[in-house]
Formats: sequence, C-alpha cells, structure tokens
Amino acid sequence: MIQKLELKNMVEKLLLFFLLFICLAKASTSTPSLPSNIHNKTQSPKHFVLIHGACHGAWSWYKVATLLRNSDHIVTALDLGASGINPIQVQQLPSLSEFVEPLTKVMVSLLPNEKVILVGHSLGGAVISIFMERFPHKVAAAVFVTAIMYGPTLNFSTVHAEVMKFIYTKCQKNYAIISLVIQYLFNSEYFAGLCLLTLLFFISSDKCHVDLLIVFDTVDWLVTKGRDLMDTQYRYDNGTNNPATSQVFGPKFMATSLYQLSPPQDLNLALSLVRLVPLYNYDVIKLTKEKYGSVRRVFIVADQDHAIALDAQNYMIKNNPPNEVKVINGSDHMVMFSKPVELFCHLQSIAENHS
Ligand SMILES: *[C@@H]1O[C@H](CO)[C@@H](O)[C@H](O)[C@H]1NC(C)=O
Ligand SMILES: *[C@@H]1O[C@H](CO)[C@@H](O)[C@H](O)[C@H]1NC(C)=O
Ligand SMILES: *[C@@H]1O[C@H](CO)[C@@H](O)[C@H](O)[C@H]1NC(C)=O
Ligand SMILES: *[C@@H]1O[C@H](CO)[C@@H](O)[C@H](O)[C@H]1NC(C)=O
Repeated sequence: MIQKLELKNMVEKLLLFFLLFICLAKASTSTPSLPSNIHNKTQSPKHFVLIHGACHGAWSWYKVATLLRNSDHIVTALDLGASGINPIQVQQLPSLSEFVEPLTKVMVSLLPNEKVILVGHSLGGAVISIFMERFPHKVAAAVFVTAIMYGPTLNFSTVHAEVMKFIYTKCQKNYAIISLVIQYLFNSEYFAGLCLLTLLFFISSDKCHVDLLIVFDTVDWLVTKGRDLMDTQYRYDNGTNNPATSQVFGPKFMATSLYQLSPPQDLNLALSLVRLVPLYNYDVIKLTKEKYGSVRRVFIVADQDHAIALDAQNYMIKNNPPNEVKVINGSDHMVMFSKPVELFCHLQSIAENHS
C-alpha cells in the first residue's frame, strides 16, 4: 500500500515536472512586442501590394503596413474576393479570375512605368504568381512569405500535395514520444518514462519546439483520428461527391498550426475575421520561364511554421529556386503577426535593392 502511494507520488511528480518543462519551453519562445519607435525613412519609396493567405484579408497586414507606411512606402493591402470586408460571398466566385479580380484592378490601373513589389503570404503566393505571369513588366520583385511557390516546372498540384504531406509530421513525432511516456508510466516502467522525459528535454534544448498546445493537439489528433486540417470546415457547393468548393480554418487549427507563436490578441482578431476561401486548381494558370521567370523572386522562410512546414518550404525552394532566400527564425505561419518587425526589415531591404 505504502509502496503504491509512493509510486503514485512519483508519477505525479514526473507529470508536474513534465508540465513545468513544457511551460518553460513555451515561455522561452515568446516573442517581444512591437516597438513603437520605428521611423526609419527610406531613400527609395516603393509601392507594396500585400496579398493575404487563405481565409484571411487585408487586415492581416495591419502591423507590417503601418511599418512600411511609416517608412514612406505606398502600401496597397487588398481583400481578395469574399475576403475581409469584400462584400462578395464565396458562392459568387465560380472561378479563379473572379477571386483575384481586386488585384487585376490594381495592376491594370498602374501608370505605364509604375512597378510594384508583390508580397504574397501562404496561398497568396499562388495568387501573385498569376500576376507575375500576366504583368511581368509591372512587378519590380515578388516576395513569397512562407507562401505557395509553384512555377514553370513545378505545378500547383505537386506543391499542394507536398504541403499536405508535411502538415502533421511534427505533431506525429511529438505524439509518438509522449504516448510512449504515458504508456511507460501507466505500466510502472518509471525508468523508461524518465529516460523519455529526458529525451524530451534534449529535443527542446535543440529548439525542436514542443509546446503544451501541440501536446494536447496530438492527443486530440489520435482520439479524433485526425482530419487533415483538424477542425477546418468545408462547403460542397458541387455536391458531396465532388471536391469541396470552399473551406474555413477552425479555431483549433488556427491556434496550433497557424498562430502558435503569435500574440493571442492577433489570434482572437483572426478568429472573428476569417472567412470561407474558395478552392481552385491553380494549375489552370500556366507559369512560363519567359514571363513569370523574368521577375525577381525572394522567398521568406518561417522556421516554426506548422502549416507550410519548413520541409515543404525547402521543397519549393529546391524545386523552383528563387533569386534570394531570407530566413526569419522563431516565426509561425503568420509571420506578419509573430515577427512583423523582422518581416518589415526584409521588405525594406528588398525595396532598397530595387532602387
Ligand atoms: C532603423 O535605423 C537604425 C539606425 O540605422 C537601425 O539600427 C535600426 O535597425 C533600423 N530599424 C529598422 C526597423 O530598420
Ligand atoms: C503535375 O506534375 C506532376 C509531376 O510532374 C504530374 O505527374 C502531374 O500530372 C501534374 N499535374 C498537373 C495537373 O499538371
Ligand atoms: C464546381 O462545378 C463547376 C461546374 O461544373 C466547375 O466549373 C467548378 O470548377 C467546380 N468547382 C470546384 C471547386 O470543383
Ligand atoms: C536561424 O537558425 C538556424 C539554425 O538554428 C541558423 O543556422 C541560422 O543562422 C539562423 N538564421 C537567422 C537569420 O537567424
């Protein structure tokens, strides 16, 4: 009896120890707040056109747009079709060209010699690619912020499949270790459990990123048998026998895979603003070496991205090499929320390099 109590105490201590470690690991990865005193004027003001990712809108750029405008740049942050405060509903967007119409309007209204810097986040990368192909002479540079970057020899379907392939690997790895720890503890194999906990420490110090949300998420993933994008919801306007026509990210997916390192205020803002994004096959737009390929491309890597994982980003970089790669360490998928100043600094230097 006494022995049993002692064992129970030990299990409790181990769990406490484990939770404490997770909290510490999480605290050490929290990001500093946005400095308010950045007023660096630029020598060469540029026109930035910022294109949001799936389900998001122009609002997602509020921090970066402020920093760019403070530096005298012109900023156009757009709502694509049925996004942000765009009054059009997702059912009214039968094809890709209607979805990207707001960007078409901007591009055709540019002055004859005016050039813009196109910045695409996430799915926005596929959107800006269309305009690099259509208006290569109007694009000074294209920036892919942890974005879909398909190209002349790498089609959208392949990139999409690659992104989906990596989307859960991190969770699954963490899950495998944690489930073993639990298994050992329940079977009174404390030594083995302790060894695995030590291993978790090791992984953490190697910056492999294990946090509480991911722990919960991975357990949940097993219990619910895991949909591809967790609680993401789908619409089937073409009938349930056909592929989904639109989707909106669920709160759990957003918290664990998009915003896990962003300020909670920004996640909460997003939870009240995301909308259904229409799903298209972007392969209908062929990208050519002559047009798309003539535009200077920069890829910005977010190393802690759980949606377009680092492996998927590296896959695109390797198979459709851009002119330049910049890395933002410690950023989740929402670079503009988790690392706005770093993103701004890279955009600023891209602007300087195109003066
Ligand atoms: C602003 O300029 C200062 C001095 O040149 C520099 O140290 C700082 O990093 C710049 N800030 C940004 C955000 O570019
Ligand atoms: C995309 O590329 C892959 C591999 O090159 C090919 O097998 C596939 O048919 C292509 N899909 C489309 C829609 O072009
Ligand atoms: C839905 O059906 C229409 C008409 O057949 C087709 O043009 C459209 O591409 C389909 N949408 C999706 C997302 O499959
Ligand atoms: C990002 O982290 C990697 C690996 O830890 C390191 O090699 C690289 O220098 C870092 N890059 C930046 C820009 O901090």
